[in-house]
Amino acid sequence: MLEVIGLVKKYDKQNAVNDISFSLQGGEVVGLLGPNGAGKSTTMKCIVGLLRKTAGEVYIGGHDHLSVEAKRFFSYIPETPSVYDLLTVQEHMQFIAQAYGLSDWKTRATALFEYYDLHDKKDKLGRDLSKGMRQKVSICCALLPDPQLLFFDEPMIGLDPKAIRNTKKIFKDLKDQGKTILVSTHLIDSVESIADRIMIMKDGSIVGNDTLEKLKLQMVEAGYSLEDLFLELTKDE
Ligand SMILES: Nc1ncnc2c1ncn2[C@@H]1O[C@H](COP(=O)(O)OP(=O)(O)OP(=O)(O)O)[C@@H](O)[C@H]1O
Ligand SMILES: [Mg+2]
Repeated sequence: MLEVIGLVKKYDKQNAVNDISFSLQGGEVVGLLGPNGAGKSTTMKCIVGLLRKTAGEVYIGGHDHLSVEAKRFFSYIPETPSVYDLLTVQEHMQFIAQAYGLSDWKTRATALFEYYDLHDKKDKLGRDLSKGMRQKVSICCALLPDPQLLFFDEPMIGLDPKAIRNTKKIFKDLKDQGKTILVSTHLIDSVESIADRIMIMKDGSIVGNDTLEKLKLQMVEAGYSLEDLFLELTKDE
């Protein structure tokens, strides 16, 4: 579903992403962990085409990631949610539905609003939404077209406990539906229950990439928790 080969991203001279390669099979849920500045957001932005990569190849569903065919496969929820100031919450959904040519979207939109307590905010303008509400709208917009592949960059930040619980539930549902998910997070235990695999980034490189089962085996042998392992792999020399 996703193949990244030798991805490099330089900002001026600094290598933010340093020649990384990985792939995600269809139906896999992968947690991307790493300390601040590790390169998680840069990696995602390069994959979804928001940043121009310096080198490397990225394929989504077998298509070059910048092609329209590839774009049909995925949705991306950015670290900082951006909404349209002058569209209402409902109009955001309508806009996405029109852009993707969705016909039967209203029931789905209503269900998503229900899930995220946005029902009574339907007619509020983007500019009048709180940070958490923007995040929720951004998630709803991403889920509306029912994509095969989802990129979530720090989805839990700014959400209230109920929304966090519902987002976890949505991850579980998406996983059950066979969707492929790459999710970056600092909340290690939030991915532990859903991720098939964990990738750990540090200084622009992938320093750990294994199934949760294998990691757990390693952890049990060493008497570690996932958090210990994370700190061990990302500690400064
Ligand atoms: N627009 C930019 N211009 C220059 N350098 C940047 C820019 N964006 C990010 N960087 C640098 O690239 C590196 C990786 O940043 P990135 O945002 O990808 O990290 P991250 O893993 O997402 O961190 P966080 O956990 O804080 O979100 C950092 O050293 C950062 O300073
Ligand atoms: Mg980030």
